[in-house]
Amino acid sequence: MEGTPLFTGMNVIELDETDSTNTYAKKLLESEKPMEGTVVITHHQTKGRGQQGNVWHTEKGKNLTCSYIFYPVFLGADKHFYLNMVVSLAVKEVCEVFLEDEVKVKWPNDVYFGKSKIAGILIENSISGSSVITSIAGIGINVNQENFDESLPNPSSLSLLAGREIPVGEVLQQLSTYLEKYYLQLRKGNFHFLQRAYTEALFRYNQTAYFKRGEQTFKGEVAGIARDGKLLIHSNGKELRFTMQEIQFVI
Ligand code: BTN
Repeated sequence: MEGTPLFTGMNVIELDETDSTNTYAKKLLESEKPMEGTVVITHHQTKGRGQQGNVWHTEKGKNLTCSYIFYPVFLGADKHFYLNMVVSLAVKEVCEVFLEDEVKVKWPNDVYFGKSKIAGILIENSISGSSVITSIAGIGINVNQENFDESLPNPSSLSLLAGREIPVGEVLQQLSTYLEKYYLQLRKGNFHFLQRAYTEALFRYNQTAYFKRGEQTFKGEVAGIARDGKLLIHSNGKELRFTMQEIQFVI
């Protein structure tokens, strides 16, 4: 169990309803500079945004939908993927607290228990010159939702998997704690620690798996990530590198 956070989640902006907590945080940053670690949370997100322009659906009052604001000005723009590692590792650990079992990070930042997606992350950074200036870490964790849209591939929730209802506030508290733990590692420049932890947490790491690239399916092994965050796959004796748009896991 980690200690109480010093700044992450100390300032909470709680909204009954908003379109997207990421959008709210973005607008807020245009007019003021809330303290680092400020979290925007809503009970009803009406236009949740996901990765690659997808929509993030969530049932009113059932799940955690929030966005944390950080100012990682110490981080070079070329290292922005470390923010994905920080947030993914934190969400993975939070889910493990409630599931008492191992949770994985499907590259780049989907959080999976077995074959089920239980959380998603949308990080939006602003960059100036060679540094990251602001980072909005949008996190959606399926907490107590039991029914999901049929179009979604293998969704689940903490309560479905744990077999009990889980207070959303408890999940938020844990999330602030673990985010701070990993963010402070980043601030200290512990890049190797983060890269190792993230690599070891990867879904299908070192396992033979199938991937889809366009219409083509191929076999390979997740070998880790490159410095720029690309996924490394060993296939047919070669090391291949992919961006998020270029590859899909076959689950
Ligand atoms: C994904 O898996 O595609 C990422 C989903 C991210 C959803 C969260 S919910 C809180 C925050 N606000 C948003 O509009 N999106 C993120």
